[in-house]
Amino acid sequence: MSTPSPRTADAAIDPVYLNRWSPRSFDDTPMTETELKAILEAARWAPSAMNAQPWRFAYTLRGDSAWPAIHGGLVPGNQLWAGKAAALVVIASYTKLTPPTGGDPVPNASHAFDAGAAWALLALNATQQGWFTHAMGGFDAAAIAAAVNLPADTVVHAVVAIGKQGPADVLPEALQAREKPSPRHPLSALAFHGRF
Ligand SMILES: Cc1cc2nc3c(=O)[nH]c(=O)nc-3n(C[C@H](O)[C@H](O)[C@H](O)COP(=O)(O)O)c2cc1C
Repeated sequence: MSTPSPRTADAAIDPVYLNRWSPRSFDDTPMTETELKAILEAARWAPSAMNAQPWRFAYTLRGDSAWPAIHGGLVPGNQLWAGKAAALVVIASYTKLTPPTGGDPVPNASHAFDAGAAWALLALNATQQGWFTHAMGGFDAAAIAAAVNLPADTVVHAVVAIGKQGPADVLPEALQAREKPSPRHPLSALAFHGRF
């Protein structure tokens, strides 16, 4: 199932950028670990400061033993709809990097920026593979950290639901109205020549 996108771009861009959007209604289509890894593969190729590759992923497929703790770590409003997704991916990043000259790891100022780049590639690749993604910042950080055995010096940024789109009418009424691709600010409000 897919909803035709009402989005239009002001310049010629690949349709994948408009076709990616974040539904809340997922159907029961399951995902294999091979399919999920094919989606994560694109994230692996994101650019990062000093090629430190700080992104980390912990995933669960609906019905496996890791699902209840990760799904249970979402805020109730997200648990409500994310329970029908095929996969949940916890996106974290390692906050330090080992200098190229060696020595102890030092703080990596770019870890969150770089994890964001990885998330974007993950989402676009999922779209190209026929899946939908929905990132969630609404989670209990301590619960998710415990669920995934979060390593030291690592922070969780989001949990991403991935699945096939389901019908909007299974959602609570308030969410049904939001079940469509959203617009964007014009580029003129965001991009400036030389000075903001
Ligand atoms: C870091 C991040 C956190 C988000 N947190 C939530 C969330 O907790 N619950 C939710 O329903 N949507 C969440 N969203 C989805 C955004 O609301 C959505 O991406 C945004 O409205 C743009 O819509 P689109 O993704 O359909 O283009 C989050 C998105 C991002 C990137």
